[in-house]
Amino acid sequence: TLLDVVVNNDLDLDGFGACEGTLACCTCHVILNEKHFEREDRTNPAGEEELDLLDLAPEVSDRSRLGCQIK
Ligand code: FES
Repeated sequence: TLLDVVVNNDLDLDGFGACEGTLACCTCHVILNEKHFEREDRTNPAGEEELDLLDLAPEVSDRSRLGCQIK
């Protein structure tokens, strides 16, 4: 997942991924570039739990995803 990339590369993104991918926070909220949605095989679709949690994220866009759910 994108969260794994952040963790495995020791990227310093303060507070990113606070719940460690258990779908209990929105700290991994990202807004993807339109190009990521042009081909269905580029990103897995958002699941229902992810969409429900995104409703609580600040500044949500139609291109919002949770980084811990992007494969
Ligand atoms: Fe908490 Fe993604 S890390 S929902």
